[in-house]
Amino acid sequence: MTDLQGATVLVTGANGGLGAEFVHQALARGAGKVYATARTPRTWDDARIVARALDVIDPGSVDAVVRTAADVSVVVNNAGVSGTNRLLDSDVADVERVFATSVFGALRVATAFAPVLARNGGGALVDGHSVLSCLALAGGYSASKAAFWSITSSLRVELAPQGTQVVGAHLGYTGTPMTAQLEVAKADPADIVAAVWDAVEAGQHEVLADQVSRAVRAALSSPVEALYPSLA
Ligand SMILES: NC(=O)c1ccc[n+]([C@@H]2O[C@H](COP(=O)([O-])OP(=O)(O)OC[C@H]3O[C@@H](n4cnc5c(N)ncnc54)[C@H](OP(=O)(O)O)[C@@H]3O)[C@@H](O)[C@H]2O)c1
Repeated sequence: MTDLQGATVLVTGANGGLGAEFVHQALARGAGKVYATARTPRTWDDARIVARALDVIDPGSVDAVVRTAADVSVVVNNAGVSGTNRLLDSDVADVERVFATSVFGALRVATAFAPVLARNGGGALVDGHSVLSCLALAGGYSASKAAFWSITSSLRVELAPQGTQVVGAHLGYTGTPMTAQLEVAKADPADIVAAVWDAVEAGQHEVLADQVSRAVRAALSSPVEALYPSLA
């Protein structure tokens, strides 16, 4: 259970649709300061928001932020990139590019901030997965989110002794710049982020933030054809 009241939160990819929502809702729940990090930091109209340059792919960039954000008690691994949909139509280099951000970048941020979280009483790490962590319909992107889900599970166990809550968030299509080109039903980013912060404050390990995530997660115990009807 992590109280956001008075917390110092760091969000990666904070300029994005869900990232900005994490920033604003953390403050609405009482966070005292939010490091809004981005590859190209923007200006924010709130003295409680501290903009910082952070490219999760770049170890030097991550180290520089760790050195100047020693008060962080909650980290949100939100940064991510979309990728190719069919593995057979993809260059392996494109898949590696997605993994560089969503898997290795997130792991780099988590390991760099783990000692900071420990020094600040444990706190919380929030990892932004996807319904596609459980459903391999998006090639390299699905693979990256599945790998990230596994990393989160390992980190949850490894960080438990220092009292760090690790929350894995699963969500389906949500209305952000990442999905702007898709003509599908999309959740409201405000609803998704509210569900994630509710889970953090309730002490949960995982949040299935929308109906599609709950349905797909439940279907994991079914035969493979339940998730992939084309195989039936
Ligand atoms: N929207 C959905 O339907 C959906 C569903 C499931 C999961 N997600 C996940 O939710 C997270 C947030 O995505 P979103 O929907 O809010 O999309 P978004 O608006 O495209 O935001 C993604 C953010 O990640 C940042 N980013 C990319 N590479 C980075 C790097 N190397 N270092 C630091 N920041 C980097 C981007 O920064 P720049 O502005 O510099 O490009 C951007 O601000 C992602 O992990 C995404 O995979 C989204």
